[in-house]
Amino acid sequence: MTSYARITGTGSYLPPRRLTNNDLAAELAQRGIETSDEWIVERTGIRARHFAAPDVGSSDLALEASRQAIEAAGITAQDIDLIIVATSTPDMVFPSTAAILQNKLGITNGCPVFDVQAVCSGFVYALTVADAMIRAGTARRALVVGAEVFSRILNFNDRTTCVLFGDGAGAVVLEASEEPGILASDLHADGSHVGILCVPGHVSGGEILGSPLLTMDGQAVFKLAVGVLDKAARATLDKAGLTEADIDWLIPHQANIRIMQSTARKLKLSMDKVVVTVDQHGNTSAASIPLALDHAVRNGQVKKGQHVLLEGVGGGFTWGAVLLKM
Ligand SMILES: CC(C)(COP(=O)(O)OP(=O)(O)OC[C@H]1O[C@@H](n2cnc3c(N)ncnc32)[C@H](O)[C@@H]1OP(=O)(O)O)[C@@H](O)C(=O)NCCC(=O)NCCS
Repeated sequence: MTSYARITGTGSYLPPRRLTNNDLAAELAQRGIETSDEWIVERTGIRARHFAAPDVGSSDLALEASRQAIEAAGITAQDIDLIIVATSTPDMVFPSTAAILQNKLGITNGCPVFDVQAVCSGFVYALTVADAMIRAGTARRALVVGAEVFSRILNFNDRTTCVLFGDGAGAVVLEASEEPGILASDLHADGSHVGILCVPGHVSGGEILGSPLLTMDGQAVFKLAVGVLDKAARATLDKAGLTEADIDWLIPHQANIRIMQSTARKLKLSMDKVVVTVDQHGNTSAASIPLALDHAVRNGQVKKGQHVLLEGVGGGFTWGAVLLKM
């Protein structure tokens, strides 16, 4: 048994193809779909996103992010004894992207691997599961990854959704520690809202039944998101015996700057304490939080010893928060 699970290394990866809003608007115009940089920036805060090449899968993005996280932790891939990948865009129906990643990393120690499917809340779910397994003594060095290729499931004839998402991956190494690391978490779901954000298609009898493309009621998602995130934050802080004033950094799911501003306002946090990458990455679903965390660590914003609150929200409807000491 161990006291804590602590993040000892972070990594991230964005595929090289970057599209600004103007680039995307020009591509959509060829389909007769009208949008503009002005509309996208004003409603979402997004200025650019990255799209993976057609032959690049979530496991490829996860591999690059994982290599960085493993290097930052000062360990080797063989030291990893648990892999959890949060993704809604797996390489295959099965096996898991985590199994594919284990093989690509050359890990031959037989460690357990599995995917977590909680859409944009996937990383906070995966981190909570890894934390519990480490504290229970089931693992000592977990690789926890969020990796997505949402470009594959976007409907480029639907301007209300296709401008919002991007591809990428983020990873952390989470190790058993006597020093404080993850302090508390708070996860939720309400399956009565499945239909407001989903990819309804499924594989059956050799065919895809239903649409394999993302569909969303943006306003319903917006309302639910702003209604739950500050409550999850407070519940997490309560469990750890801390208050809003103790938060050094808020790293919310990067979906929309207006949702982040609303949460920050409700938590009485200045936007200076909020890590924002949505402008450059768009919404990368389960990858967005570990991507933002890695950027904030590498650019010197997030430092060792600081309290960081991670918050996820997305399809399901799912939401949750993880409070940790770096
Ligand atoms: C999607 C979202 C940006 C739309 O913003 P909104 O302010 O609700 O905008 P509306 O849907 O009311 O649309 C307003 C107008 O803009 C138009 N519009 C929609 N998408 C557009 C686009 N990409 N470019 C230009 N105009 C667009 C609509 O057609 C509508 O026009 P109309 O008034 O003539 O009918 C917003 O609802 C949102 O961010 N929701 C949350 C989405 C999210 O974060 N999802 C992921 C959660 S994990």
